[in-house]
Amino acid sequence: MAADTTTDRWRGRALDVELRWFRLPKEISPADLDVLSAEERTRSADFKAARRRLEYVASRARLRRSLGEALRVAPSTIAISPDDFGKPQHSGGVEFNLSHSAGAVLIGWGDRPVGVDLEAATRATQHIGRLRIVADVRDAMSIELIAAFTLVEATTKALGRGLAAVRGLRIGSVAASGEIRFTSPGIERPIRAIAVAVPEGYVAAVAVLD
Ligand SMILES: CC(C)(COP(=O)(O)OP(=O)(O)OC[C@H]1O[C@@H](n2cnc3c(N)ncnc32)[C@H](O)[C@@H]1OP(=O)(O)O)[C@@H](O)C(=O)NCCC(=O)NCCS
Repeated sequence: MAADTTTDRWRGRALDVELRWFRLPKEISPADLDVLSAEERTRSADFKAARRRLEYVASRARLRRSLGEALRVAPSTIAISPDDFGKPQHSGGVEFNLSHSAGAVLIGWGDRPVGVDLEAATRATQHIGRLRIVADVRDAMSIELIAAFTLVEATTKALGRGLAAVRGLRIGSVAASGEIRFTSPGIERPIRAIAVAVPEGYVAAVAVLD
């Protein structure tokens, strides 16, 4: 069956992570601004590019509403602040991550450190193909480079340590289910990642530290 390209939301679950995908609106709405914290509103005002500001505001609003529903609290009251590596965290026991790209956002949450990555399926791949681990994943799984990139990026976001984590990342094993395990120096916990079937036009992945 052909995928529905007009859909503006999607929900799923993988690796015990709840996933939500939303197409972002064309303009910032007062309702989205209202749901943000004072710090987020201040940060949003600092973005020079209107597109980046819209992406930030609309994504954070959808993140807050999703977590608010899961935690059964008012979305605007959820405390979210960046850790030492810039990864936004909530102190109340839920782990989450988000990724925005090409007018859409993917949000994931669960009880273990999680990373998600969302990319436009048409994103240029000449630069990312030079990253050895991305090329290794493509070859090991016989998938498109962009799909390999999302698996790697979701994994580095689960680790939450930026570029340093990319350099040390190695493939552990690949299962027939499409799940890939990675190893990373100094990380004892199993690291797993898998592709996520978001709506047509996008490629995505989720990763967790067990
Ligand atoms: C910060 C970083 C995660 C942003 O990635 P991006 O591809 O530009 O953007 P995405 O839309 O996927 O993710 C951005 C969101 O990730 C979250 N984020 C920020 N820092 C993060 C971190 N250290 N770890 C995990 N998530 C982070 C934020 O919610 C951010 O959105 P916001 O600023 O609107 O709140 C990225 O620069 C980074 O450090 N990646 C780590 C690995 C890497 O360098 N990969 C490149 C080659 S594989």
